[in-house]
Amino acid sequence: MDYTFDKDILDGLTATNKNLSSKYLYDDAGSKIFQEIMHMQSYYLTDCEFEILSLQAQQIVDKLAFNVPFNIIELGAGDGFKTFKLLEYLEKNSIAFHYIPIDISKKAMDMLTYKLKERLPNISIKPKVGDYFKVLKELKQQKTPSLLLFLGSNIGNYSHVESINLLELFNKNMHTGDKLLLGIDLKKNPITIHNAYYDKNGITKRFNLNLLIRINKELDADFKVNNFDFYCHYNPVTGEVKSYIVSLKKQQVVLNKLTTVINFEQNELIWTELSKKYDITEIQNLAKMTNFSIVENFLDCKHYFSDSLWIK
Ligand code: AVJ
Repeated sequence: MDYTFDKDILDGLTATNKNLSSKYLYDDAGSKIFQEIMHMQSYYLTDCEFEILSLQAQQIVDKLAFNVPFNIIELGAGDGFKTFKLLEYLEKNSIAFHYIPIDISKKAMDMLTYKLKERLPNISIKPKVGDYFKVLKELKQQKTPSLLLFLGSNIGNYSHVESINLLELFNKNMHTGDKLLLGIDLKKNPITIHNAYYDKNGITKRFNLNLLIRINKELDADFKVNNFDFYCHYNPVTGEVKSYIVSLKKQQVVLNKLTTVINFEQNELIWTELSKKYDITEIQNLAKMTNFSIVENFLDCKHYFSDSLWIK
């Protein structure tokens, strides 16, 4: 079975400060709830990025300045709807490219491929299910220039150190002249950010508690989901949203597959996610520290979000 998952969950739940990695929120059920989040009025990120890629596709493509057919490699493509406008622009203008979406969810990849083939039947699409870096390494063997897409503020899930390591790893697997389009959520009115993550309809709560349901299924555990709640908090000074699952009472949970019992105190927390917000200065520092140059930051009209184009 999935040894890494088992070990990560065990380590997280036996740590002094309990935590579960946000990458495990995206099983098939979780990916579906995340789609609901992206459709929420208050979750501005999706609309802002969609606006950027729709209204500024030409400006972005002009800055790519590849003069031969290139790869567009999308890491964590999900349903890929935001990328659609960019791909559509390229197709309309007869610019040659191969679209290579990569995601860990096979279901999400199948859906994306199906939808794209329906709407853009002429594009070359080669989806890959699995680990980013395995695929990136393979692609570095080729001479084809590449644009890497890491959109949707996925970088926000990584701590400072982790994001530097990740971007350095991207850099290592790119050729000189390759580009990276990085979707970054910007600092803004804290209330706007609070409302995006603490939604009134409890969709984000369901997204988090689904992780307990996943653990019940995959580790034969007995989390009683009703005994847990969701809390999140935005710190406008650090730009960090932190999300937690809260144990509503003192309780025990058995992980049968791991022959382990986990004890919870009343109000004990499981930290599930970091969603970091940046300002332009922080973006410049991040690029500098990871050996990229910024070509341009493409912002939406409200200046809520940036798709930052970097070159190696
Ligand atoms: C997919 C990581 C960008 O942090 O905004 C949405 C996930 N979590 N609502 C984010 C998420 C709660 C999302 N990312």
